[in-house]
Amino acid sequence: MNEPAAVRFFHVWDTYAKVVAANYMFHQEIGQAIKAGLRDRFGARPFSILDLGCGDAATFAPLLDGFAVKSYRGADLSEAALTLARQNLSGLSCPVVLTQTDLMSELEAAEPHDLIYVSFALHHLTTVQKAGFFRVASQKLAPGGLLLLADVVREEGESLPDYLDAYSNYLREAMVALEDAERDAIREHILSFDLPEPCSVLRAQAESAGLHMLDAAAPHKWHRLLPFVKA
Ligand SMILES: C[S@@+](CC[C@H](N)C(=O)[O-])C[C@H]1O[C@@H](n2cnc3c(N)ncnc32)[C@H](O)[C@@H]1O
Repeated sequence: MNEPAAVRFFHVWDTYAKVVAANYMFHQEIGQAIKAGLRDRFGARPFSILDLGCGDAATFAPLLDGFAVKSYRGADLSEAALTLARQNLSGLSCPVVLTQTDLMSELEAAEPHDLIYVSFALHHLTTVQKAGFFRVASQKLAPGGLLLLADVVREEGESLPDYLDAYSNYLREAMVALEDAERDAIREHILSFDLPEPCSVLRAQAESAGLHMLDAAAPHKWHRLLPFVKA
């Protein structure tokens, strides 16, 4: 399968691993909020997972320790990522199915799941596509289910060009553990493909689709965890 350029950057998984290790995207705080959200919603109850844009699943797999995962279904456009995901998810004792496909196609084809999880992938969709995502996600959430969206959002009133400028500055000034070439590759990817929305837009789209946003974890102005349940 040919991979679009938006995905080719993520062949550089060791660059992304450095970003995660240095916590530049607040994965640690978001990870704690994910575990708290799963505990609150499911407790000891077994739940099925649909992970869209799962990447290498390196940050998500360890968070599932101790939970009663019934099944895990992951989708990503990158074959390289899925190969790594298979290894990273090998500790799960439930069935694991990984598919190389677009996240919307996977969502449309899937049975209802208890947890739909999308981490740092939805911001690649246009505003109209995101509204479509929420409409289908609402249909594919099993009763008592949870949609967890970890992603970058724009501040309220911040335009996309202003966000991209500010994020480029953040990349240059804060992500000091990266090589110049790595920062350049990330910057090029962000400028070409990132289309984050303000939180209010995501909330409104979700509400139109019959989803209610719970309290959001906001470890940083742009890096958030947004939980949704059926209204
Ligand atoms: C920043 S990585 C995040 C990976 C993982 N979810 C995480 O949080 O660590 C974004 C992932 O989304 C995938 N991706 C981007 N657009 C996609 C799409 N339309 N359908 C499926 N996967 C997509 C990329 O291949 C990449 O693996």
